[in-house]
Amino acid sequence: MTDIEERSQGRASAELLARDAEHRSGLWEPDTVFVRGDGALLYDLEGNEYLDCMAGIAVASVGHANARLASALADQARRLIVCPQNLGNDTRTAFVERLFRHVPAPLNRVFLCNSGSEANEAALKWARAATGRNRFVAAKRGFSGRTLGVLPMTWEPKYREPFGPYTMDVTFIRYNDVEELRAAISEDVAAVLLEPVQGEGGIHPADEAFLHAAREAASAAGAVLVFDEIQCGVGRTGTFLASEAYGVEPDMVTLAKGLAGGVPIGALLMTDAVAASMPKGGHGTTFGGNPLASAAGLAVLQEIEERGLMEHARAMGERLMEGLRRIGGERVREVRGRGLMVGVELKEKAAPVIAALKREGVLTIAGGATVVRFLPPLVIDQAQIDEVLLRTARVLAS
Ligand SMILES: Cc1ncc(COP(=O)(O)O)c(C=O)c1O
Repeated sequence: MTDIEERSQGRASAELLARDAEHRSGLWEPDTVFVRGDGALLYDLEGNEYLDCMAGIAVASVGHANARLASALADQARRLIVCPQNLGNDTRTAFVERLFRHVPAPLNRVFLCNSGSEANEAALKWARAATGRNRFVAAKRGFSGRTLGVLPMTWEPKYREPFGPYTMDVTFIRYNDVEELRAAISEDVAAVLLEPVQGEGGIHPADEAFLHAAREAASAAGAVLVFDEIQCGVGRTGTFLASEAYGVEPDMVTLAKGLAGGVPIGALLMTDAVAASMPKGGHGTTFGGNPLASAAGLAVLQEIEERGLMEHARAMGERLMEGLRRIGGERVREVRGRGLMVGVELKEKAAPVIAALKREGVLTIAGGATVVRFLPPLVIDQAQIDEVLLRTARVLAS
């Protein structure tokens, strides 16, 4: 047993997890209790330190215990927490204006909500309003969320099939297969929804030709093109939207995860034309656009701008990917990614390697059965990347 394994089986953790198990839904079985963070570091109840290359699945964009984010939340909480979107709010407006400094035209409107699934559901609803159609095109290995509204667009059969049948008509095409894509987009399609870099599916960046073909075919069929940037957006790949690097203009983009640094948020970005298609009162939300999430979002955008975190993500991502490629070896099939969205595809199951990395003090997460995903906070520094590489090399050599 390594040091971390021995110490993390301390009594305090075991007791807390036993109490926790009394009321858990049964979906998860955590074995470690995290109590504190600092940038790209996490600490468990026994005081073990971990390099966090998971970031709550691409959420802790500006790092744990970020001082600006913490102050913004505390200040806003003392001023005003509740203010629905039928009432104006100064912090929300400041956040939205700041957001559109980073969002390319013609995206010009936003619906704020509370999660990725909610943002995608809103996109599907707006697509139906804009086209009057009910057929959708999505990609194999794509992940759109777990609520019943978006589950029909999530490809993984073990997530989707037990909860069908669904009333939406969805065609799944092979990601990066231009011919299949073109063949699927006919004039009864409401929307084509694609991740510019697939996350849960195992870190697969789109080919340029694929996203351009999606734009052309959607326009020709009168369908709307939606990019799901819930995992790859908000600077993680080196540009604010991952799709910017492809030079393709979508009609809608969904964001969530890293947008408010850990405070629940979702955002659907739309063109004027798409936004106008929804009748007044056609959609809504109680918590969406609340001042607390808006204050968090504003602080995240300020951090990204002032600390140059998009350029940093690009540079750190390149260092991480190059280092992982150098480690390579018998067990590695491929290293791929964009910025700080990196996947190591193994020739074996990922779970044991992820567990071994955790014992070495590196938190990662699977992307499909054989891919180890590295999604650290955008603030991770060079020395920390090098330490991640050192420990990964040790695990892959064992
Ligand atoms: C690309 C993508 N879309 C949608 C979702 C769903 O987001 P949420 O879990 O916030 O509902 C996720 C979550 O992992 C995601 O990665």
